[in-house]
Amino acid sequence: DDLSFNAAVNKAASSIQRFPLTEVQGVPLRKWIAQNWSSIWAFCPHPSDLLISTYPKSGTTWVQEIVDLLRNNGDDEICKRAPTTERSPFLEVHYPPPIPSGLDLLKKVKPPRVIKTHLPIQLVPKGFWENKCKVIYVARNAKDNVISYYHFDRMNLIHPDPGSWEEYLQKFMEGKLAWGSWYDHVKGYWKEKEKRNILYMFFEDMKENPRREILRIMRYLDLSLSDDIIDKIVELTSFKAMKNNPMANYSTIPKIIFDQSISAFMRKGEVGDWTNYFTLAQSQMFDEDYARQMADVNIPFRTSI
Ligand code: A3P
Repeated sequence: DDLSFNAAVNKAASSIQRFPLTEVQGVPLRKWIAQNWSSIWAFCPHPSDLLISTYPKSGTTWVQEIVDLLRNNGDDEICKRAPTTERSPFLEVHYPPPIPSGLDLLKKVKPPRVIKTHLPIQLVPKGFWENKCKVIYVARNAKDNVISYYHFDRMNLIHPDPGSWEEYLQKFMEGKLAWGSWYDHVKGYWKEKEKRNILYMFFEDMKENPRREILRIMRYLDLSLSDDIIDKIVELTSFKAMKNNPMANYSTIPKIIFDQSISAFMRKGEVGDWTNYFTLAQSQMFDEDYARQMADVNIPFRTSI
């Protein structure tokens, strides 16, 4: 029954710790994801399902909210039906059972579904490509991305301890954080975007002109909404509106997993916050390494707008 299920869920949640990551094909992932890898890899979507893919902390939740509003004609009551985690399940996520996995939550939603993933392109289950699913990829400049991830890992009590900022930056550059190398992630999707019809977006573009970027998503999804409704969606997906929306700000996740008293999920939502953390020496060292790691592509990232 519900009571004993909830008790079992609470017991499982209280067993959660900052476990070390486990590699799947060279990509460090949470141990529960690695343990369940075969069922994740075997997942087959419906052709009408949409995949939203990102390296963690690139604007995933923001795009999930925009897409849900677009698909529901800007009706914010409908979009407050459940938290983000249930409205657009996280494909690979697993916790100690019986806490529901992403695959469990996906079974409860009917296609066309909106599915979130942080998997690098080579680990995305083949069915997404075989069924020609639409894919939206969101990328964020590396310096703001690592700052956002650092604060997230301070409050996310199921990830390894971030250590000092200095140490964390090193781990990011070496691809040792959960979901692996930022560099490989953004490059992997970039190189495949034409062939696989991926809508490749940038966090900085969304900050610069949210309306323009919402329209890009609308067209990609073959939707057509009135100007008034688009204006409403721009408002409803502003940083402030989402920070105050309990169905979008992750406040439904128990404090034993996300301790938002350490750092809020909706933290700052800005471009250029990296300048408050990187020393000049760190910035130069990072830029040199970046040039080396990104030498084979030319992705137009901006670290300020
Ligand atoms: P910061 O930590 O820099 O504030 P993800 O959803 O991929 O985990 O990304 C989270 C990051 O996106 C956080 O960045 C969060 O504040 C930011 N974010 C979420 N919704 C946003 C919005 N509507 N506008 C601007 N930034 C947003």
